[in-house]
Amino acid sequence: MRLGILISGRGSNFEAIANSISRGKLDAEIAIVIANKPGAGGLVIARERGIPAKVIPSRGLDREQYDKLLIDELRAHDVELVCLAGFMRLLSANFVKAFPDRVLNIHPSLLPAFPGLDGQKQALDYGVKIAGCTVHFVDEFLDSGPIVLQAAVPVLDDDTVESLSARILAQEHATYSSAIQLIAENRLVIEGRKVRILPENPSA
Ligand code: GRF
Repeated sequence: MRLGILISGRGSNFEAIANSISRGKLDAEIAIVIANKPGAGGLVIARERGIPAKVIPSRGLDREQYDKLLIDELRAHDVELVCLAGFMRLLSANFVKAFPDRVLNIHPSLLPAFPGLDGQKQALDYGVKIAGCTVHFVDEFLDSGPIVLQAAVPVLDDDTVESLSARILAQEHATYSSAIQLIAENRLVIEGRKVRILPENPSA
């Protein structure tokens, strides 16, 4: 399964996906990494690992114009699944239609709690005892599509945004690859808001 990974920054989720592939835990290949910001740290990781990467700057373009560029680039690389990994832009309905049920996102909270920016800080400020991360299908709304997998992370009394974010990030890295592998194995059925996970095929 050919992946297109969209990033805006550090790129640790992208790197974790690349690691899962190289360790043989994920049956996929990264066809292209696209950053909307020239300074995205993930671009350095892609270069070091010899993974094709490209900057398509989003500055000054409206959503439809920008998403058209993204769609063309992803199609040119025969991308079958688009993975948003710290990609800080909302995608248009046309983008979502171009890859039906084939766009995933990772968010650092247990959705529907704490969508948007700084999910970890929102959780800490609210005083929840359990935080976590969510991998979900993407629709044109913010952090809102059907949920594939979630992982829970306890909030400790002395947690800071940094310490909690680090523990959530470790779960993000594992959870994202697991969700992608479920799609590679064709084991997800979307029924409205619900995503059913089919059992492993023993003969596969
Ligand atoms: C992660 O916390 C992800 O959940 C959120 O943005 C952050 C991206 O981190 N959407 P990285 O660029 O993958 O290191």
